[in-house]
Amino acid sequence: MRDENINHAFLDAVVAGQAPDIYYHFGVSSADRVLDEFRDVRAIVMAGPGGRIVEFASRWSRDRGGAAILALAKEDRFVTRYCDGVLFASHGMGSPSAAIAVQELMRMLFFLKDGDLDAMSEVFWTRVGTSGGIQVDPGTVVVTSEGVMADLRPYRLLKGAEGTYWFDGGYPTDVLNAILASNEGSGIPMAVGRTVAGNDFFLEQFRLDGAIRMETDESKMAWLEWIEAEGVRNIEMEGAMFAGFLNHWGFSNFAMMCVTIVNRLKGDQITATSAELESFRERLGSALFNHLHAILG
Ligand code: URA
Repeated sequence: MRDENINHAFLDAVVAGQAPDIYYHFGVSSADRVLDEFRDVRAIVMAGPGGRIVEFASRWSRDRGGAAILALAKEDRFVTRYCDGVLFASHGMGSPSAAIAVQELMRMLFFLKDGDLDAMSEVFWTRVGTSGGIQVDPGTVVVTSEGVMADLRPYRLLKGAEGTYWFDGGYPTDVLNAILASNEGSGIPMAVGRTVAGNDFFLEQFRLDGAIRMETDESKMAWLEWIEAEGVRNIEMEGAMFAGFLNHWGFSNFAMMCVTIVNRLKGDQITATSAELESFRERLGSALFNHLHAILG
């Protein structure tokens, strides 16, 4: 862990019980007893929609002999479930939403593990989601090697008028390889590559089917071919920030797995049927659960 990057000025008093930390968007505070039940957390699984979180928690509970599922009362922003060592949390759509969820969960984990950096570093984090594929067939689960923005540079945020905060978008290779190993022989088509996180679904993903069109067929294809040549295998909306924030604190046990639902070299619209989309999501869930079982026993 990178102790120097942890906000001790704020968080140490929380661990010392001198002040509660309010995880506002999750609707819970470090003073609420429900969090006592989360202390054994060994994995944090994040996904965009709340419905996925509810499904994942039920499936995990089923696989773990009907282990109890705990929920937080507030669900208007993010949906949370805790079951047998795994904290499942939704993050909404796009980096501005997901960045709030990730920061509040980092703070929550610091509290849950009493500021013990070794205990924190053992926790496995993952984001799972859907994505647009770059020259991979729809239904492929892409495991990300690096998260970048649409210009293939890392995640950054404005530092007021003064400059830019930069983050490291690298994903740990050993974790990525472990995910592939957990899924060996499963028949799930998997690929590894860089992932572009667009700030929106349309313009920063060079789509021509938005209400607003800024590109031509030629400039769109030039961008897609450029990112393909640079090793990008899929496009989504959160993965550069996810890696960037976790790297900032020095976590080294995290990954992102996203199933592709369209091949962007062939089109912009999502034409897969609902049955196909369901089977892609099911596949992604299996890839995730194969790995969770491998690491959590
Ligand atoms: N999610 C995205 O962000 N882009 C896609 O093309 C598909 C899913």
